[in-house]
Amino acid sequence: MGFVFTGFFLRGSAFTVPELVASLLDSIPFVTISFNLLFSSLTESLPKTSSISAPVGSLCKLSYIVTKPISAPVLLFTALNLPLVIAKTGSSITITPPTTFGDVATPINLLLAVTLLITLATSYFIVSTLVSTYIRSSNPSRPPVITPLTPFGNFKLLTFLEFSKSPLKCITRLYKTYGEVFTMNMMGQNITILLGPDQQEHFFKLGDDHLSQQEVYKFMKPVFGAGVVYDCNARTRQSQFQAMAYGLRNVRLKGYISKIERETHIYLDSKFGQSGTVDLLEALSELTILTSSRCLHGDDVRENMFTQVAELYHDLDKGVTPLSVFFPYAWTDAHKKRDAARKRMVALFASVIKARRAETPEIAASKNRTDILDVFMNAKYKNGQPFKDEEITGLLIALLFAGQHTSSITSTWTALFIANDPDIMRRVIQEQNDVVGGDRELTFDDINNMPLLHNCMREALRLHPPLVLLMRKVLKDLKVSTGGNDYVIPKGDVVMVSPSVGMRLANVFPEPDAFDPDRYAPPREEHKTPFAYLGFGGGMHSCMGQAFAFVQVKTILSVLFRKYKMEVVPEKLPECDYEAMVVGPKGDCRVRYEKRVN
Ligand code: HEM
Repeated sequence: MGFVFTGFFLRGSAFTVPELVASLLDSIPFVTISFNLLFSSLTESLPKTSSISAPVGSLCKLSYIVTKPISAPVLLFTALNLPLVIAKTGSSITITPPTTFGDVATPINLLLAVTLLITLATSYFIVSTLVSTYIRSSNPSRPPVITPLTPFGNFKLLTFLEFSKSPLKCITRLYKTYGEVFTMNMMGQNITILLGPDQQEHFFKLGDDHLSQQEVYKFMKPVFGAGVVYDCNARTRQSQFQAMAYGLRNVRLKGYISKIERETHIYLDSKFGQSGTVDLLEALSELTILTSSRCLHGDDVRENMFTQVAELYHDLDKGVTPLSVFFPYAWTDAHKKRDAARKRMVALFASVIKARRAETPEIAASKNRTDILDVFMNAKYKNGQPFKDEEITGLLIALLFAGQHTSSITSTWTALFIANDPDIMRRVIQEQNDVVGGDRELTFDDINNMPLLHNCMREALRLHPPLVLLMRKVLKDLKVSTGGNDYVIPKGDVVMVSPSVGMRLANVFPEPDAFDPDRYAPPREEHKTPFAYLGFGGGMHSCMGQAFAFVQVKTILSVLFRKYKMEVVPEKLPECDYEAMVVGPKGDCRVRYEKRVN
């Protein structure tokens, strides 16, 4: 769903120049670098794979444009106007500082660098002061405004670069200075952050006519298709959401457990074997799409056309770039592949739907279908019209987008946290033995009877929510009060809640950085403060797939932990990959495993 792109949208605002252009460059077989800057001029064509060292002074602006992401050393070199090494391999371009400093630190370079830094700092200061003064004076009742280069607060001027590197650290820092409500201006868009349960409540409780979800996610139309969720009127969307909710309700989930369990056994037996080392994120991503396809698309799709579905999903997924947020129809390779993939996905599901509709009632009944495709095929709008084939495909794509990365990331973090703590691991295994014992099949009751595993998943999601920023467009002025001040967030702002920051506030979750699954157990039950726990959002747009996600992740992990002993390979758990649109672990996710002897 569109919310998945919240982080992306923002990042689109935050790193527009480098990422937008990098997206464009993705579609160009070679890059022609043309400069006519102050100090030198150079025109250089890079073949597909090559590496060049550009002369001093020539790369001043270029690294801003093509580096993805901007690394701190590259930024420094750029700011100091020093040479960088550009390499293009396939469609990706990397820019790195040279490995030797050699002739870089000449007196003229240093003089140029100092002059440049002073000029930049002065312009930053002037521009940011002007912008923030203008925003404040045009609406004195609005919350404190922080511009990308705010001169207020501590001296971290490049707020928006900090934000792009780690929104969590940036928002946490600003929270300490400005409190629960403040506005950031990013590329001209005022984004007001709401933190803490009281402020988060506004975000989740107000209706779409006040805070609109649709407005910020329109760019998903080419992926989901015309007339699907964010591209239709409220009435149509309501029918589509009702069908989704119906398909994901508890009674249907019961039938999914044995399907997920079977898929997991088959996958582990074929991929894991007796013992070894595996990247958990990779393995659990594969397992998530296999199990989702089985449950949501049905046995016929899973057994006969899974590979095509997975490939098409991949192209759709890669077809949402930062550029897409601003120019969803830009003629790039990624967009071309996205559009082709959507057409093929529609054709593929049209053939499945046709085959199912051609079945006699007896054959259809004998299949006893529980998948969501079946629900969509039988769903009707309020006027009695059935969903069109294209819309059905769009809804299936939307569900894959909503559940694939979120669930695979959450299962990975949960497993890593458990495997990293011998005491928790011992208790989890104890719980598994108590509930399931022996080798019998899992039931719905079993899954609901694993409070520790449940709380581990909750806790992993609190520490590392895959959706780090949720957004709405303000359609009517919004009044908020905090710290004895009354503010009005004006129509036109984007309001944003950050589950990652909101769920690490020490006054809501004591010792917020500790992995402590017992915080949800009685008598502590820290998640019970309304609008404090945000792993699945809240209010009217809270996650529809929450129960499904718990069933899917818990079933997979129950099988995994009962089957294998496991320990984390790296010394430290990985960091978060804030450059991804759905934020998961970055780096080494390997575990060592060994089959248990029963
Ligand atoms: C651990 C896995 C998951 C996490 C962390 C998660 C998280 C979220 C969050 C935070 C929202 C609220 C977005 C907002 O307020 O803008 C949301 C909405 C939604 N999720 Fe999930 N989700 C997960 C899995 C799933 C799955 C598996 C499905 C479906 C199969 C799903 C379907 C949806 C739908 C349809 C909505 C939109 C609800 C609405 O707008 O009314 N999610 N999810």
